[in-house]
Amino acid sequence: MPAIIEIIQADITTLEVDAIVNAANNTLLGGGGVDGAIHRAAGPGLLQECAALMGCETGDAKITGGGNLPAKHVIHTVGPVWKDGSHGEPGLLKSAYRRCFAVAHQYGLQSIAFPAISSGVYGYPMRESVVIALSEAVAARGEYPELERIIFVQFSEGAQQVYLDAAERLGIVHS
Ligand code: AR6
Repeated sequence: MPAIIEIIQADITTLEVDAIVNAANNTLLGGGGVDGAIHRAAGPGLLQECAALMGCETGDAKITGGGNLPAKHVIHTVGPVWKDGSHGEPGLLKSAYRRCFAVAHQYGLQSIAFPAISSGVYGYPMRESVVIALSEAVAARGEYPELERIIFVQFSEGAQQVYLDAAERLGIVHS
């Protein structure tokens, strides 16, 4: 059975899944937005684990435990900062999603939840990032048979609608 792609409105830190993805920065030492929320909910042990990873390149991903989160793991990735779209942003965002799926596969994970990587502080227009996010989910669904659930989590109803509209345009069935 190929993975189900779900689009939900929630706080990602509340999800009971194998991994939630953190939209982090190159230091992996915490920040604002979803990164701050994840570190607050996971507790100080997460920062200690992150410090041992010695940072992360843009477009790469690294995994830790979930600390006090209901999620078993956190996959930390770093998306690009949006400039104008002609500075390699799409390739780097694609790579961030791909690397998250590859790391999940290495650990045999069956469920993974993503925030809208780069579409907050980093300024990547959500109408464009969503196409990359959903296309990479479809690719991963074909590539990794152990994946059961791929969840896209938005904080606001407006953002969730952007995802739902894109899923419909791309012919992706969600539940
Ligand atoms: N659950 C789900 N989505 C959330 C949550 C949450 N708890 N909190 C925020 N979002 P951002 P970026 C959404 O800025 O653009 C940090 O300081 C948010 O509405 O968190 O990749 C890092 O340390 C937005 O749609 O990540 C970096 O320095 C999306 O998550 C920088 O921000 C991503 O917004 C990374 O910026």
